[in-house]
Amino acid sequence: MDFLDNLVIPATAQHLSLLKIILVMSLLIFIPFFGMLIGGTAFSVIFNAYGRKKKNKLFIRFAKDVIDKLAINRFVGVGLGIIPMLSITFCYAQLLFEVKVISVSLLFVATLFLALAVNFIYSYQNTFQIESLIETFKGITGLDKHELDKQLPEDVTDYEFDLMNTNSNSGLYGFVLLLLTATFFAGGITIAQFSENYQDFQNIAQMFLSGATFVNFLFILVLSAAITGSAILFFFFSWQGGMHDMDKEYSNFVKKIAGNMAFTGAAVTPVVLFFSFYMTPNSALSGSVFVYTGLAFVSLLMLCNFLYAVIKNSDMKYIGAAFYFVILSCGFIIMKNQSAFGTASYKHLEIISLKAEELHKEKKTKTINTEGVNGEEIFTKICSACHGFDTKLVGPPYNLTVPKYNGDIKKLADFILNPTKVSADYPPMPNPGLKPKEAAAVSQYLIDKVSGKK
Ligand code: HEC
Repeated sequence: MDFLDNLVIPATAQHLSLLKIILVMSLLIFIPFFGMLIGGTAFSVIFNAYGRKKKNKLFIRFAKDVIDKLAINRFVGVGLGIIPMLSITFCYAQLLFEVKVISVSLLFVATLFLALAVNFIYSYQNTFQIESLIETFKGITGLDKHELDKQLPEDVTDYEFDLMNTNSNSGLYGFVLLLLTATFFAGGITIAQFSENYQDFQNIAQMFLSGATFVNFLFILVLSAAITGSAILFFFFSWQGGMHDMDKEYSNFVKKIAGNMAFTGAAVTPVVLFFSFYMTPNSALSGSVFVYTGLAFVSLLMLCNFLYAVIKNSDMKYIGAAFYFVILSCGFIIMKNQSAFGTASYKHLEIISLKAEELHKEKKTKTINTEGVNGEEIFTKICSACHGFDTKLVGPPYNLTVPKYNGDIKKLADFILNPTKVSADYPPMPNPGLKPKEAAAVSQYLIDKVSGKK
């Protein structure tokens, strides 16, 4: 992404550690929410389609509740989804400064897909609300279905038809776009760990050649199942006392579906975690990658334990603990990935911070030391004999000549120290015999004066 390259600068060592912290925090927000979004949308779309086909009210209600509870609302979608994803992309752009590899482009494409997906998902969510509004009004009329059909104006029935179309389409589009987001996200993060093979990943299509990307994509899906199942249990039964208007049938149905989903996800995640670890390139392995992988294992086992207690005894007491371990497991998995990336990019990051220091030094030498010399005094004493600002004397007016130097003090000082013939309309300027410091001071004075600063 060339335009991203223009936004980033080489970062100093302290700046780099700050970036890594921002990156981990953004991931900690993004991964759990994204997991909920992708799992919640999948659940909702499937139960919605199936429920409408079979005219099963329970399924449709579940579809509506899931997307309401898990996707929350548009602002949350932007705040916990798009913004963290953007900040992840920028952090990678900064950390992979001047590295020729597709990671940053992949993350950027993932961000675009996510933005589109979020749009579709919240209009999908919206259709449920409008539908139930229409149903309520129909109920108020007290007419039976047959009479209603006769009496409803045509544009209302048309609108309902459109609404149901939007409902089934946007949910599906949203879900497909989320899958694409997950693919490109997995690609960006995974390929960044293969620092010794960066040259093999130069265009976006090459992402599909990376087996590790595929494993990490699966990883996201399986982890999302665990997150989604636990989140449904948590938000339906525990958060703020749970949902109140659930009858026995509905609540058993939700417990069963979400419990199974959460447990299956949580039990399969360690397996995929193992493969993901196995696929980590040697150049990215370090002690902390081992430690975080181990911690993630333990945390996932605890999660399975609590989920089992929830399912077995239908006891919602442990669901808070289970949800806590979901988030903790996400945290360890993120730390594992980030320490792998940290190790892989270690050499590169050293180069970046060296570059940053060089730039810093260069800037320092460019700011010329004019201490103790008065530029204005030199002008009045020496230069004003031949120069005015807007009048032509022996030499040309400064307002015409100084702007040519574009604020470059050094260049102007060089001319003053050693005047060369410039214009045929004037005699050559004699060397005023200044010291470098004095030339710099008078240059500074002229530049400030001409640009209106003084
Ligand atoms: C004896 C007269 C004389 C003095 C004293 C003099 N200049 Fe000049 N200066 C000239 C002339 C003549 C030119 C035009 C030279 C040319 O166009 O080749 C000139 C040109 C310049 C220019 C324009 C250069 C360009 O790129 O077009 C600058 C800037 C300048 N002088 C700065 C100074 C400063 C600063 C001092 C005092 C330290 C100074 N001059 C002292 C006669 C003088």
